[in-house]
Parts: sequence; C-alpha cells; structure tokens
Amino acid sequence: MTTAIKFWAVVPAAGVGKRMNADRPKQYLELAGKTVIEHTLLRLLSANVFTAVAVAISKEDPYWPELEVSGHEQVITADGGKERADSVLSALKSIRDLASDEDWVLVHDAARPCITATDINLLIDTLRADEVGGILALSSHDTLKDVQGKNIVGTLDRSHIWRALTPQMFKYGSLKNALEIAEGNPAITDEASALELQGLQPKIVEGRPDNIKITRPEDLALAQFYMEHQND
Ligand code: C5P
Repeated sequence: MTTAIKFWAVVPAAGVGKRMNADRPKQYLELAGKTVIEHTLLRLLSANVFTAVAVAISKEDPYWPELEVSGHEQVITADGGKERADSVLSALKSIRDLASDEDWVLVHDAARPCITATDINLLIDTLRADEVGGILALSSHDTLKDVQGKNIVGTLDRSHIWRALTPQMFKYGSLKNALEIAEGNPAITDEASALELQGLQPKIVEGRPDNIKITRPEDLALAQFYMEHQND
C-alpha cells in the first residue's frame, strides 16, 4: 500500500533581527493588528495544504507562548538553532516520526508575512512532479555591481541572477540529509544552497514581488501597504 504524499511547512523563527533596531525580535513586531509571525502562520494554515507547521523558536523566547497560534493543533514548536539552517534542521527533526522521506516540506521565513495562497499553490503545482524541488524567486530589475570596499570592480550579467525568496520546497528526506551534511557551513543561507552543495539543481519559480522579508523598520509600513492591497 502506498501512503499519500503529505505537505509540511517549516518556519524558522529563531532570529533576533538586529537590523530592525527594535526592543524585540522582528517577528513579534506589530503589523496591522497582529504580530508579523501570526500573519505568516495564519496565512500558511489557511492555505489548507499543510498537515502541520513546525516552527523553530529560540529557547529564551518569552513572546511565543503568549500567542494563541502557538497552541494551534497544527502548529508544532521546535527549538531554534545558532544559524537559520540549524533552526530548519531542528524543525525537520521535530517531525521525523510523522513525516516520510518522500513528503514535501515548504520552508518559509517567519519574517515574510505577505505570503499568499497563490504563491504557495504556484510553487506546489509547478514542482510536485519534480525530482529535486525548488524555490520562489524574483529576477533583478536593477543593474548589479561587484564591489570591493567602495569600488566597483565589475557588473554582473543580471539575466542569470535571481533573488531567492521563500517558501523553498524540497523532499523531507533529501532536505534533512543535505542540511545534516552542510551543518556548520556558513555558505548555507537558504535550503537551496544545501542541495546545490550536493550537486543538485533546484528549480526557480517566479514569485510575487509583494512577498517581502521584514528586515528594516520601513519594511513594516511596506508590508502593511501590500496586505491592504492583496485580495487573494
Ligand atoms: O535574519 P534573516 O531575516 O535572514 O532570517 C530569516 C529567517 O530565519 C527569520 O524568520 C529568522 O527568524 C530565522 N532564523 C532562525 N534561526 C536563526 C536565525 C534566523 O530561525 N538562528
């Protein structure tokens, strides 16, 4: 008997977000009446495709248990790690008895609260028959410079350059394996790079530009603007 392939969401949410200069990690800042992470999780849950969402939270985080969503029956809390990749690996391990190697995992930053069901479904529909998996990405509209110090030493061919967004969608078994092999490697700043290190070539799926990552204070106002204008 073959078991049906499941979809899991993994949300790394154990960062401190230094560039926000705020009194708390950026995922707990308020945006349109809720915290950033509540928007992110409620959007993932309401897409109705995930068996559960595993969220990696720092052990010293006093904010998470206060949120109603932390007790949601489809939300699993895992310990965060030193780097983003450690947090993702920890969340994957927290569902090891529930997930099978062939299940799909969509890893999504807690700090991207404007994610839409449209983009989640586009990623899944494009990649569910793929061998490797892939990521939402955006092409670059700006000319990109190679800079050393303050000096431009070259101009990159932007036709080959894409900005990696999340979700990033990979098979549970191959993602866990790739992250375990890459553990401690500072070059692993997203899931795709761990698979690339194995010689694999994840696909890109063009995503929506409103799927921004909250990084700097002004991003909160921009996210609010996008949310008010999204109707899907
Ligand atoms: O800092 P940056 O915006 O790149 O972080 C991306 C995501 O990874 C955020 O949701 C952040 O909370 C998470 N993260 C994590 N564990 C870390 C560092 C970052 O879960 N050690």
